[in-house]
Amino acid sequence: MLKGVFPVERFAPLRTPFYYYDLDLLRRTLRKVAESSAGLPGARVHYAVKANFNPVILKEIASFGFGADCVSGGEIKAALDAGFAPEGIVFAGVGKSDREIDYALQQGISRFNVESAAELEVINELAGKAGKTAPVSLRVNPDIGAHTHSNITTGLAENKFGINYEQLEGVLRLALRLGHVKFMGLHFHIGSQILDMMDFVALCNRINSLRESLAKRGLPCGDINVGGGLGINYQHPNHLDIADFDAYFRTFRKHLQLPQGTAVHFELGRSIVAPCGTLISRVLYVKEGTTRRFAIIDASMTELIRPAIYKAYHRIENLTSDEPEEIYDVVGPVCESSDVFLKGASIDKCRRGDLMAIRSAGAYGESMASGYNCRPLPPSVFSDVDF
Ligand code: LLP
Repeated sequence: MLKGVFPVERFAPLRTPFYYYDLDLLRRTLRKVAESSAGLPGARVHYAVKANFNPVILKEIASFGFGADCVSGGEIKAALDAGFAPEGIVFAGVGKSDREIDYALQQGISRFNVESAAELEVINELAGKAGKTAPVSLRVNPDIGAHTHSNITTGLAENKFGINYEQLEGVLRLALRLGHVKFMGLHFHIGSQILDMMDFVALCNRINSLRESLAKRGLPCGDINVGGGLGINYQHPNHLDIADFDAYFRTFRKHLQLPQGTAVHFELGRSIVAPCGTLISRVLYVKEGTTRRFAIIDASMTELIRPAIYKAYHRIENLTSDEPEEIYDVVGPVCESSDVFLKGASIDKCRRGDLMAIRSAGAYGESMASGYNCRPLPPSVFSDVDF
């Protein structure tokens, strides 16, 4: 089996499971994002902190001058601590608490992505009390279903996210009327792990027609935030280790019709950090069942929950075996039958103690880890740092 290149000798003395981050790949990815987005005038990339808030990763991304997309006060703090400038921070989320809004106002972030009229009024009131004006964008629900898992599709009509088309005009007029908010633009997000560029074309078409219809009624649309969602190739991490940023930014360049000088904001998470992260684990036991063979490893859904909750695929390689492949169900030790990484996977013969690499786990891996079953949170090691 073709495998990724990992410093296996350096892993040998380490306690598993842990996350391993290839910072060289992260930097190559960030350079590519900078280069591809430069082809689109007005493009501003904000890294979606929810994908991975490991401080080392955040610092690396901040050092490239990108902005940050945050969904809680905690994420805003993590972004600021890592060196992201407040002027590059956008704050989204359907349930921002008063405390979080106050904190964001104090920090002088660049944008509140507002998801309802009720929230807009609260932000207005809190900004008034703080003697400030809050810059707001309205999150519009574009009613586009991206071809992806239902749990991570967010752009459909009746959804907790965003403001529906029919209500948009009313909320927009309210934003223009209120004294302590400043209307800045519109925000969209259609889902995650999107590989079909036609989904983004559909989003561009929606934005174009919405802008036109608002203009006809004498309403501004401001700048545009198209959210995130670009997918990566989970099947072939060794061949395709960087997402297709060229195709992605080209799609918006070609299909989004905006007046010259309009800023276009992007909130990319997964595509930036997923490929550089690998969950490293050891085989505890090989259990021969009657019809199946189980590789029971010491990583579980508490380190990487994506397979358990989305049936997400992550390629698994045995880094310390070159014996012929066998078929395994790779499972974790947690007391849940969904604690399964892969079923019927062809992997080089496993023996107790073998090191297993669970690939493309840099996004929504460490950041979604939990302490279920009193398991410790996974530590992380980096390609650059001596360990
Ligand atoms: N902007 C908004 C408003 C979002 O809701 C999200 C992700 C992003 C940007 C970043 O999307 P990305 O570029 O990473 O696709 N835990 C799930 C993914 C949840 C995505 C939530 N929203 C997973 O593991 O697949």
